[in-house]
Amino acid sequence: MAHFLDLSDAGADALAAMINDALDRKAARAGLPKAAPDPDAPLEGHVLALVFEKSSTRTRVSFDIAMRQLGGSVLLLDSASSQLGRGETLADTARVLSRMVDGIMLRTDDHAKIEEMARHASVPVINGLTDRSHPCQIVADLLTAIEHGKALPGLEVAWFGDGNNVLHSILEAAGLMKFNVRVATPAGYEPDPTFVAMARAGGAAVTLTQDAATAARGADVLVTDTWISMGQAEAEEKLAAMAPYQVNAALMAEAKPDAIFLHCLPAHVGDEVSEEVFEGPQSVVFDEAENRIHAQKSVLLWAFGKLGV
Ligand code: CP
Ligand code: NVA
Repeated sequence: MAHFLDLSDAGADALAAMINDALDRKAARAGLPKAAPDPDAPLEGHVLALVFEKSSTRTRVSFDIAMRQLGGSVLLLDSASSQLGRGETLADTARVLSRMVDGIMLRTDDHAKIEEMARHASVPVINGLTDRSHPCQIVADLLTAIEHGKALPGLEVAWFGDGNNVLHSILEAAGLMKFNVRVATPAGYEPDPTFVAMARAGGAAVTLTQDAATAARGADVLVTDTWISMGQAEAEEKLAAMAPYQVNAALMAEAKPDAIFLHCLPAHVGDEVSEEVFEGPQSVVFDEAENRIHAQKSVLLWAFGKLGV
């Protein structure tokens, strides 16, 4: 068993194995009803607790469907309706859940909380998003890029807007899978330098710029996310600083003609992305959303020691 708090917990070989397994399983179950188990039902009899201290649509539904497809099941806990909301510690929650379920997915705010959960759990803990990172999302994003004909080594990925949790996991993946990242943010909204250093240490070229067009020029993949993440105050000053980083047709025109557009969703169309791009032919955001299921299945199989890496 292994925790999946960040992509580095798995490493490059396991991440590559996850992507291959996800592609294989996705192809093999084509045509089956969405909740029908894969023929080998590798997690039959296993139950995963989904613990949410923040809102979710995709993460919640995709983990549930992923577990059904693997032959297992989930149960759902949130702060409002569990004792977490009344102050029971994550340490005690981790020890109790470890006696009752086979794995725990946690979405929370402070990354230190998931580290605390993992320290006290004796079953795998999976990061379903913290303020610091969103590793499951990036497994789905890499899968989506590959499905759309992109090879990871040397890929030019461009990020626009806020230097947030999703960008951090992209940078972590870049160091592991050897792709390059151009980051265009306003001053003061750059990513945590730890993640930039991690990417560079792994051999990725990372460019930090305040000019969106410079980042877009010749890129293979353009990515953005909400300007205001969960738990952040909606500040007029921040929205004004972000305005020049909208992914719109003019910015897409700077990229390679076959570039794709990714967004983890939920999107704020008209803010970080124009409607023309979001609804346009280069946008693959709904493939990306669906791929959360297929990515999570391979994360789960890895965490449960069933991927052989
Ligand atoms: N992309 C993503 O994690 O979506 P949710 O917040 O809906 O889970
Ligand atoms: N950066 C966003 C991602 C949502 C999936 C947030 O943390 O709210």
